[in-house]
Amino acid sequence: MADVAAPDHRPQLRPPQGRLFFGGDYNPEQWDPAVWREDVRLMQEAGVTIVSLGIFSWGLIETSEGVYDWEWLDEVVGLLHEAGIAIDLATPTAAPPSWLLTAHPEILVLDPEHHSQRPGGRLGWCPSSPVFREYAMRITAAVSERYANHPAVVMWHVSNELGGGNARCYCDVSAVRFREWLTERYGTLDVLNSAWGTGFWGHRFGSFEEVFPPRCPRDVAIPGLFLDYERFSSDELLAHYLAEKAVIRRSSDAPVTTNFMVGLGPHVVDYAAWSAHVDVVANDHYTLVRDPQRAQELAFAGDRMRGLTRDREPWLLMEHSTGAPSWQERNRAKDPGEILRNSLAHVARGSDGAMFFQWRASTAGTEQFHSAMLPHAGTDTRVWREIVELGQSLTSIAEVGGSSVAPAQVALLVDDESGWALEQGLKPHRALRYGFEPRRWHQLFWERQILVDVLPADADLAGYDLIVVPTLYVTDEARAARIAAAAEAGATVLVTYLSGIVDATSRVLAGGYPGAFRDLLGVRTEEFRPLQREEIVHLSDGSEVAEWSEDTVLGDAEVVLGYADGPGAGRPAVTRRRAGDGHAWYVSARLAQESASSIVDTLVDELQLRREIVAPAGVEAVRRRTGDASVLFLLNHTSEDVDVEATGRELITARDLTGTLRLPAGGWAVVREVARP
Ligand code: GAL
Repeated sequence: MADVAAPDHRPQLRPPQGRLFFGGDYNPEQWDPAVWREDVRLMQEAGVTIVSLGIFSWGLIETSEGVYDWEWLDEVVGLLHEAGIAIDLATPTAAPPSWLLTAHPEILVLDPEHHSQRPGGRLGWCPSSPVFREYAMRITAAVSERYANHPAVVMWHVSNELGGGNARCYCDVSAVRFREWLTERYGTLDVLNSAWGTGFWGHRFGSFEEVFPPRCPRDVAIPGLFLDYERFSSDELLAHYLAEKAVIRRSSDAPVTTNFMVGLGPHVVDYAAWSAHVDVVANDHYTLVRDPQRAQELAFAGDRMRGLTRDREPWLLMEHSTGAPSWQERNRAKDPGEILRNSLAHVARGSDGAMFFQWRASTAGTEQFHSAMLPHAGTDTRVWREIVELGQSLTSIAEVGGSSVAPAQVALLVDDESGWALEQGLKPHRALRYGFEPRRWHQLFWERQILVDVLPADADLAGYDLIVVPTLYVTDEARAARIAAAAEAGATVLVTYLSGIVDATSRVLAGGYPGAFRDLLGVRTEEFRPLQREEIVHLSDGSEVAEWSEDTVLGDAEVVLGYADGPGAGRPAVTRRRAGDGHAWYVSARLAQESASSIVDTLVDELQLRREIVAPAGVEAVRRRTGDASVLFLLNHTSEDVDVEATGRELITARDLTGTLRLPAGGWAVVREVARP
């Protein structure tokens, strides 16, 4: 409930003259001045256009309370400027200095058992701490006032990955703030008691002072209280961001951003609520070794980033890696070509560039084994050569800067609150993860080269032919009405199980599941029937269902697939109903991939969903629309060469294509098309 109006005017970050954003976190404070000169020379060699500077340098700028050392930073800013490299200047609040932690240990986050994190990491501060806020605003003011008018500073980078090390704090100061937040949200105690259903276990609160952050095990927390604490924590971090932004605005009109950590979700904060407050939507994206579908997950994150922008305008990939990070169990180096392919995949989906953590690999400190643009082994390395090649490639395709991705016909709704609520507490099936269904439906379209806008659940749905609503667990009346209205107006809506189950207070919508969507779908589920380990039931198409099924009763919908065996034999599993000018499908089971895939084929045919190209799964194709042309990004994530249709100018190799292009295994192409398809 950070009830702060989104600003109408947002300063735009314009791509540097004729270039895209290319660079990374630059941490010169880890090196002596001789290295800075080499850094700048090599940045020029690689074609770096921007660096994020000063992110973790508070302790080196404010060396003790109120004592500032600007000399080194002035010099680095000057060197970068002389070299024509733009600066995304950070407020250094992600890493409080040792003197501050020593003087004010009360700023540290407390876990539910009231243990504090020991100083030594970063972001260990409590977002509700007035003491921390005061110090943070002081350093923010000092940095922003000093560099506001510097011509190299084109953007402000507030802190770093807010929530990354301080997502939830359970200290007494947070408890007081939480009560204030609740008072603002609910007004009176009666409303609060009723919203949370505190009659259960006689939990009724007699005063706001009796309400505490959920320090009990998360399983037994009151669901409404738990969900509100997640919201509150997101809002407190957002309030911190907004406070820093307001300080910066006193001296600078440049765009202000902070780096999100968007992946499959649920995320530590509610980025749908945050995105209105950043001038540039920026993301840090790292692939996970354990994920067998890394390329598709990357596309999902890119589509979600685009969905967080106001009008599908460009966003910015603020960090990814050139190779192995160091925070996974066995960190995976990238395959040859993967740096370029992944970078282009982000650009294809709307990023106006590709940036990395970090410029030069650290030799000391926590992340001393993290990959970088300039590796420990120096410039005679594959990574460095690929970085130089990436810099050249981004220059060759710079005409896409500022352009939008071609409009999508498919929207897929995601919601961090639904993820928080679904994954907390006692549930019919506690191993189900929120991210599964959003991702699997996205993947089916990704495999068919069909673009999907991954949107916040309350986004404007006008113009979409298909709206996929996977496990949208929290759904209030307004949200359900908006989705139903889209169907009435002609869209096809596909809703999966565990959608529309609870309202915004986490209270079950009674009368049969899925409460909020029952009328739209024309079905009523009497009972959930989670499947036990190894238990399989079959559907009428012969496919298997594991994990989740329901006892659903047909209303005015028609059956697409029914349960063929098991206790629910004869009952509907997948249904469809005419709704105004559109249709509403219900998927009550966790379908096997082939069954979901054939539903997608039906929808693709019926709704004539546009495939950007026709190619095997794993070949990615996305178009960005520039003024008078379209630019087709082709990425072959498979291990086979493929022939694809493409006509126009291949921008990276400067070749004209007339018809067919051989895309090697792992290869890519960016084609300015002669005629718009
Ligand atoms: C990011 C973070 C960077 C660095 C990186 C390592 O989440 O913003 O500072 O730690 O991870 O992968």
